[in-house]
Amino acid sequence: MRTESRAGIAPRALPLFGHTLPMLYDPLVFLTSLPAHGDLVRIRIGPFEATVVCTPELVRQVLLNDRVFDKAGPFFDCAREAFGDGLATCPHDLHRRQRRLVQPAFHPARFSGYAQVMTKHIAEVTESWQHDQVLDIFSEMMTLTVRIAVEIMFSDTLPSAVLQAVFNDFNTILADIYIRTIVPPTLDKFLIVGNRRFNRARNRLRKITRRVITDHRTDGADRDDLLSTLLTVRDPTENQGLSDTEIVDQVITFFVAGFESTATVLAWAVYLLACHPEVEQRLHAEVDAVLGGRAACFDDLPKLQLTGRVITETLRMYPPVWSLARTTTTDTHLGGHPIPAGTILICSPYLLHHLPDVYPDHDRFDPDRWIDGHPAQPPREAFIPFAAGARKCIGDTFAVVEATLAVATLAARWRLRLLPSRHVRPSRSVVLYPRGLRMCATPRGEPRNRGLTGPAPTGMTQT
Ligand code: HEM
Repeated sequence: MRTESRAGIAPRALPLFGHTLPMLYDPLVFLTSLPAHGDLVRIRIGPFEATVVCTPELVRQVLLNDRVFDKAGPFFDCAREAFGDGLATCPHDLHRRQRRLVQPAFHPARFSGYAQVMTKHIAEVTESWQHDQVLDIFSEMMTLTVRIAVEIMFSDTLPSAVLQAVFNDFNTILADIYIRTIVPPTLDKFLIVGNRRFNRARNRLRKITRRVITDHRTDGADRDDLLSTLLTVRDPTENQGLSDTEIVDQVITFFVAGFESTATVLAWAVYLLACHPEVEQRLHAEVDAVLGGRAACFDDLPKLQLTGRVITETLRMYPPVWSLARTTTTDTHLGGHPIPAGTILICSPYLLHHLPDVYPDHDRFDPDRWIDGHPAQPPREAFIPFAAGARKCIGDTFAVVEATLAVATLAARWRLRLLPSRHVRPSRSVVLYPRGLRMCATPRGEPRNRGLTGPAPTGMTQT
C-alpha cells in the first residue's frame, strides 16, 4: 500500500520566526533555493505555515482550479481590508459574476482608443525630460502609468491635489501590506503607527473614489471612459449592474493592480537595456526603422517585434507580481502529497521564471529566447507573469500594449544611462520594483554619457 507523506519543510526555521526573516529580507533568494528541497516545500512565516509549489506543472494545477485553491488566508484578509472585495481579491464564489461584468472594459475593440491615450501621455512625459537630466526612473514610470490610468478611468484628469493624495495613499497601502501579512500577529502591536497610517490612507482613498463616482452618476455626461463602462454594465442573467460599493472596489483594484506593476516592468526594461548595450543597439535599429523618431502608436505594434520580446523577457526576469497566494477550501492532493483544507499555497512567478532546467542561462537577459521556433523557447506553462486560469490578469493586454508603446517611444528619443555606482535592488514589497534606479537622460545620437553603466543589483545575480 502506498503511504502518503506531507511535503518536507525548508531547512533553517528559527523558533517563533520560522522563515520570516529570509522572506522579509531576501525573499527572492530564499524562494529560488526551495526547489532543491522538493516539488512542494513547507515554510513557516511567523505562526503561519505555507507550502511553496516549485514546479510549473503543479503551479498550473493550482492556478487552474480556483474552486479548490481559492483566494483566502491572511494576505487576502489584509488586501480585502484595504481594497474591498474587487475582482483581484474576491473569493471564487463572487468572482465569476464580477469578471463577467468587468470584462467589457477590456474588450479588444477598446484597445486602439486606450492606445491613443497611452501614446499622448508617453509623448508628453518623455518630452518633458531635459538634456542630461538625472531621473528617478521608477517614479517617472509611475507618473506615466498613473496619468494614463486616470484618463482612461475617469476621462477628465482629477484636480492635481486630489491626484497627489490618491497617489500617496496607494503608495502607503502598497508599502505596508506585505509587512502586515508576514509579521506574526503577536508582533502586530508594534505596527501601531503603520496601522494608523494604513487605515487613514484606505479611508481617504475610498472617500475620494466614492465622490468621483457620485459626480459621474449625477452629471450624466456621455463619457467613453472605464468608469462609465462600470456604471452601465448589466449582468444578462440577473439584469443587475454593480453597486456603488462594488464600483469603488473595482476602481481601487484597477489602480492597485494596474499602475504600479506596469511602471515596474517599464523601469526594469529600461534598466536591463542600459546593462545590455548590444540589445539596446538592436532595439534602436528597430524603433528607428518603424518610428523614425515619432511616438509609437497602436498600428506600430505588429512591427515592434524586438520591443515586444524585451517586454516579455523583462516580465520573465523581474515579474512584478512575484508571489501568488492561494488557500485550499477542501482536503486535496498535490504532486502525490496530501494537502489539508486551509493550507496556504504560494506559487511564485519569480521562482518558476528562474528554474535552471526550464530556462537555460536563466540569469541572462535574452529577449531572443522568445523568438518563435527558438530551440530554447520555454514552455508557456512556465511563464506566468499574469498568472493563469480564471484568475489570470484581466489587464494583461493593456499592460503589454502600454509597456511596448512606452519602451519604443523612449528608445526612439532617449538613451538612459545608469549613474556610476548606483545600487539597484528589487524592492521587498508586494510588487517587485527596482529601488535606487536613477539614470541620466541623453537625447539619442548624443555621444556624451555613453559607457556610464553601474553594477548589477545587489543580492541578485549578474543579468
Ligand atoms: C505588467 C503589468 C501587470 C502584471 C505583471 C499583472 C499581474 C497580475 C497577476 C499575476 C494577477 C493574478 C493575481 C493572482 O492570481 O493572485 C493579476 C490579476 C489582476 N490584474 Fe493584473 N497585472 C498587470 C497589469 C494590470 C493592469 C494594467 C490592470 C488593469 C487595468 C490589471 C488588473 C488586474 C485585475 C483586475 C486582476 C484580477 C483578475 C481576476 O481575478 O479576475 N493588471 N495581475
